[in-house]
Amino acid sequence: MPVVTVNGFRNDTVVINFLPADSELPSSEGLAVDLPNDADVQMLSDQLERIDMIRIPFPSSADGRGFSLARQLRSLGFRGRLRAHGHVISDQFRYALDSGFDEVEISDELSERQPESQWRDHGGHDYRAKLSGKRDAEVEDPNIFSVSVTEVKHYTDDLFAFKTNRPDAFRFNAGEFVMIGLERENRVFRAYSIASASWTDELEFYSIKVPEGALTSQLKWIRPGDKILIKKKTTGSLVSDALLPGSRLFLHSTGTGIAPFLSLIMEPSLYEQFDQIILTHTCRTSDELRYSKEKVDAVMNDEYVGELASEKLHFQSNATRDPEAGLGRITRQIESGELFSRLNINSPDPETDRVMVCGSKGVNLDVYAIYEKLGFVQGSLSRPANFVWERAFVD
Ligand code: A2P
Repeated sequence: MPVVTVNGFRNDTVVINFLPADSELPSSEGLAVDLPNDADVQMLSDQLERIDMIRIPFPSSADGRGFSLARQLRSLGFRGRLRAHGHVISDQFRYALDSGFDEVEISDELSERQPESQWRDHGGHDYRAKLSGKRDAEVEDPNIFSVSVTEVKHYTDDLFAFKTNRPDAFRFNAGEFVMIGLERENRVFRAYSIASASWTDELEFYSIKVPEGALTSQLKWIRPGDKILIKKKTTGSLVSDALLPGSRLFLHSTGTGIAPFLSLIMEPSLYEQFDQIILTHTCRTSDELRYSKEKVDAVMNDEYVGELASEKLHFQSNATRDPEAGLGRITRQIESGELFSRLNINSPDPETDRVMVCGSKGVNLDVYAIYEKLGFVQGSLSRPANFVWERAFVD
C-alpha cells in the first residue's frame, strides 16, 4: 500500500494496528487511531498526547470532511502523524498538506494511475519547506546533516533498528555517538551510538521505543524515504584510544548498549590491537537478543573482517528473564567467574586486559564496582587507562 509524503512515494511494510477512535482506547502510549470522517474531534481531545498517529478516511474524493478534521486536530495541538486514507487524488495533495496531513495512503491502483511525478507536481518535493523559510534555514544549519532513512526493521514491540544514507563529509570513530533529531517544529535531539562500521557508506542505529520519549515516540514511525537530522559532531568514550594497549578486550553491554560495540567489532584495527575480544550482551528476554545475534553473525561472515572476527571474537549473549537461559545478570557471571569458565579463559587482569561497558547507569556502576575491586581504573581520551563506560541511550 503506497504512502505519499512530501518526499515522494513510500511503500509501507510494517503493519500498523489502528484502533477505532470510538472504542475504549488502552491507557498505553504510542497509539495509532482510525478516526471516522464524521467524528467529533473533541472525543480525542484529552487523549492526543498518547496518540502517535491518526488516520482519517476519504470515502470519495468529493468528500472533503477529512480536511477540516485534520485542521481541527492540529488546532487542538495534535503533533503526531496525520494520515489521509482512501480517495484522495494528487490534485488534492497540496490541500491535504495545508490542512495538516503528513501523508496520504493510497491504493495500488491509484498509484498506477497517478504516479509519483504527479503528486510531486501538486505539493510534494518539499513544498512545505518552500513555504516556510524557517524550515529551509534550519535544514541549512552547517552543524546538521539531513539524511534519508533507507531501511527500518522492528525487532520487538520496543526495539527497532534503522539505516540512513551517509553524507560524504560525515566522519566518526567506531564506538562514538551522535545527536539525532527529526525535522519537526519542536526539535528534540537525543544521543545515539552508531552501530555501523566507520568505513561503510550507510549509518545504522538501534533504538528503544520509549512510550513517552520525546524523540523515540516519533522516531518509531519512520519509514524508508523519511528524513532525519544528525548533528555533525560525534563523540564518546567507547573508543579504543581511551584505553591503554592490552591483550584482551572485554565489551559488556545490556539492551541498546550493544550498538557501539557492533561498530567496534567491524574495525579491522581492533583485531590488530587485541588478541581476544570478549563481547557480552544481556537483555531481559531472548527476543531482545535477536538484533545482536544477527549482527554478530554478519560480522563473523563479513568478507572484510570475518576471518579476523572468527579467530578472535567471542560472543556471549544471555536473557535474564528467560527461564531457560538461566545465566543471570552479567555482574553475577563476572563475580562468580562463570563467564570466564564458560569461555575457557582466564579471569580479568588489569595489567593486560581492557574493559568497555555500555548499559544503564546501574549496570555501568555495578560492573565498574566489580572491575574496580580487581584493580581497574577509568580512562578517557586525555588519560587512557584500562576501563571506560558510556550510558546507553535511554529516552
Ligand atoms: P534483570 O532482568 O535482572 O533486571 P533493562 O531492560 O532494564 O535495561 O535491563 C537490561 C538487562 O540488564 C537485563 O538483563 C537486566 O537484568 C540487566 N540489569 C539491569 N540492571 C542491572 C544491574 N544493576 N547490574 C547488572 N545487570 C543489570
